[in-house]
Amino acid sequence: MPLRPNQRTKLDDSDDKLFYAEPRLVTHVDQGFIQQVTDLYRDRLKPNTRIFDMMSSWVSHLPDDLKFAHVEGHGLNAEELARNPRLDHYFVQDLNQNPQLPLPNQDFDAVLNTVSVQYLQYPEAVFAEIHRILKPGGVVIISFSNRMFYQKAIEAWRDGAEASRVDLVKSYFESVPGFSTPEIITRQSNAPNFLQWFGGGGDPFYAVIAHRS
Ligand SMILES: C[S@@+](CC[C@H](N)C(=O)[O-])C[C@H]1O[C@@H](n2cnc3c(N)ncnc32)[C@H](O)[C@@H]1O
Repeated sequence: MPLRPNQRTKLDDSDDKLFYAEPRLVTHVDQGFIQQVTDLYRDRLKPNTRIFDMMSSWVSHLPDDLKFAHVEGHGLNAEELARNPRLDHYFVQDLNQNPQLPLPNQDFDAVLNTVSVQYLQYPEAVFAEIHRILKPGGVVIISFSNRMFYQKAIEAWRDGAEASRVDLVKSYFESVPGFSTPEIITRQSNAPNFLQWFGGGGDPFYAVIAHRS
């Protein structure tokens, strides 16, 4: 079911490029989350393959010990992307203004999107593009937590409970013919127990994974 127009709205509907005009040299999730996403990439990605890291920034969550044939980056801030040590090449493009990726058909083994899917207003169009650029059998890994720039997340994301966000991402895959049934990973924070007793819960980890059939 495509999103209704009101579900695509953001509280701050100004141009996204303005929001990302200044580089943010921070990490958007805690170390526990970053470890989980890096471990997942180590488990699911193969060396010497072609990776598209979309909606990325100055940090890479790719494991240092895995070498790839090519890592293509994309985001909204060129300065952040220029500092990302794993990108072989990158481009800047607002996917809410133009969802068409300037990338060839069936050229990538994996597409990664970390803590950013909530900002897409036309996810069905973007997921159709992800499908187009993936090789048959290629994998898509969408991961997220419960943090966000609230004013820039779409209504369907902001107003939903955490479990409903997993269903939302599943529905994005299901809107495009030719993806496998999505696999869901849900893990509570792996912050040490003593921190959790004191209310330092840490960031939960969610991933929705599918393959191009
Ligand atoms: C919270 S940051 C996450 C960055 C990175 N993936 C990470 O894990 O640190 C969100 C990213 O989404 C990207 N983004 C947000 N809105 C976008 C849009 N309309 N079009 C393209 N990219 C966008 C920005 O480049 C930004 O770096």
